[in-house]
Order: sequence, then structure tokens, then C-alpha cells
Amino acid sequence: MIEIKGNKVVLIGTGAVGASYAFSMLNQGVCDELVLIDLNEQKSMGDVMDLNHGVLYAPTTTKVSFGQYIDCADAALVVICAGANQKPGETRLELVKKNMAVFKSIVGQVMNSGFDGIFLIATNPVDILTYATWKFSGLPKERVIGSGTILDTARFRYLLGEQFGVAPTSVHASIIGEHGDTEVAVWSSANISGIPLKDYVARDHTENPEDKMKEIAEQVRDAAYEIIEAKGSTYYGIAMGLTRISRAILQNQDVVLTVSALLEGEFGHEDVYIGVPAVINRQGIREVVEIPLSEKEKELFDISVNTLKKVQEPFWK
Ligand code: LAC
Repeated sequence: MIEIKGNKVVLIGTGAVGASYAFSMLNQGVCDELVLIDLNEQKSMGDVMDLNHGVLYAPTTTKVSFGQYIDCADAALVVICAGANQKPGETRLELVKKNMAVFKSIVGQVMNSGFDGIFLIATNPVDILTYATWKFSGLPKERVIGSGTILDTARFRYLLGEQFGVAPTSVHASIIGEHGDTEVAVWSSANISGIPLKDYVARDHTENPEDKMKEIAEQVRDAAYEIIEAKGSTYYGIAMGLTRISRAILQNQDVVLTVSALLEGEFGHEDVYIGVPAVINRQGIREVVEIPLSEKEKELFDISVNTLKKVQEPFWK
């Protein structure tokens, strides 16, 4: 049994998302050791040098190195950002075929190292690739986590905070479902200091509160397309979301985050990884939090589950 070393993290894929995640992890002092793996060894080694040169100005010392899959053996956390990303106008689900093949290879090589830690998946379509990682790795479900709707929830809380003049940390609202076009804004339990958000919207948009709520939810859902059109890809927001999940794991925080978790009956579904609130700690996903949903939200969530299953099932027949 290989001894898992403290909070060693191995990052696979140092493209825009992976490199931003590495930068974010160093600046937030989340781990002691960060190993980068990428097919483009030269670029990765450049990232290693560039990051190590900045460590003096980081809150803690993180040892950054370039590595091979064998370095996963004693890692606490392996984060996968490798794979193709969306082109302008492309949906996340359209990436599934090419990235499924990439994942079969990567997860196999990680497991061959003797890895016995936690996987955190960011590559899209993240829910389907997290399910695939769980299948390919054979690890217990709680130790395979997807970034899920961690960023969608952040976008939702940011927009609501802007709308009502409060910090996102004071907005209690979640996006659940597919990290994609069928995601669901959970308005029914959204609140600021216990005051239902629906009341806030109605206060400021007396004539058409429902339209305003729909507009905000669509802004969240379509944010990535807008950013991709503007600058080619998204990476800062997701990197910060991955850092938040990494901190929750490595510091054993028991914090509730909307990540991609395996359902085994929760919300009336099973055998699918999908964005839901879950308690995250050193063991991975401690439990899924089955928040109450309105009838409409449950209907939309069911559509989201079925959308993912329809794409995913042919790969596992
Ligand atoms: C986004 C990518 C991470 O939503 O899917 O920005």
C-alpha cells in the first residue's frame, strides 16, 4: 500500500485551464507539492520554471516540478485538465468522442502508477468524463469528483450580487445539473440573509420578475460561449473553482460545493455524474445534499440527467 504524501497534487494537462489552475494553487498556497504532466514537455517545463520563480511572492512554498505518471503513485489528488476544449459555437457535449479516448489512456496510466488518491476532473463534457474516470479507474465513487457546476454557481452568485449590491459570498444560490446547456438555476431556495431571492427580484422588477430571473439564468448558462467568442477559451474562473474544490479536499473542510457527483438514488436518479451540492472533505465526496426543488426545477433537472445519459450510454453498452 503506497503511503499518500501529505497534499501532493499532480496536474495532467497544462493548457490554459491547467496552467491557470497551477497559478491559482500557488497563489492561494493550497498544496506543498505540485507536479505538472503534459504531452508538450517543453511547454510544461517552461511553466514549471516560470511558477517556481514566483514562489517567493506566494503565501506558502509550493515545490513545482515536471513529472511522469509514476509521480501519481503517492499523490493525494490528481487533477485532469487535458483534452480538447470548445471552439466558438461548439457545445461541451460535442467534445465527448475525442476526449473519451484521451481519458481512457490518461486514467489507465495514472492507475498503473498505483495511485490511490482522489481524481478531480475539469475536461468537458465534465459530467460524462467524470463518470468515465470512475469506470476506468475502479476507485470508489466518493474519490472521483468533477468540477460540475462549481463555476456556473459562481457566475450565478456573481450576477445576483451585482444585481442586488451584495458580495457573491452573501448570495446563497446554486446551479445544478449538467455543466452545460441543460443546467438548472435553483431559484426556489435562493436567498440573501434568508430573504428569498424571488422577493428581491420582485422588489426591483415589479412588472416582470420572472423575465428577469430567466434573463439572469440564461446569462449564466451562456457565459462560456460569450467568453469563448471574446478570447478563444475560458480558464480563470474554472481554475479558481478547481482550486476551491482542491482546498476543500486537502484541508478536510466538509464544505458544500456544487460538484459533479455520482447519484445513487438522490433526486430520483442513479448511475450518472451530475452537478449537485455535495459535502467535500479529505475523503472526497462525503455526501450529496439533496436540496428541495420546485416541481419545475425537478422537471428541468430530470431533463438534464436524461440529456447526459443519452450521450453517455452508447459508450458503456
Ligand atoms: C466554462 C468551461 C469551464 O464554463 O466549461 O467556462
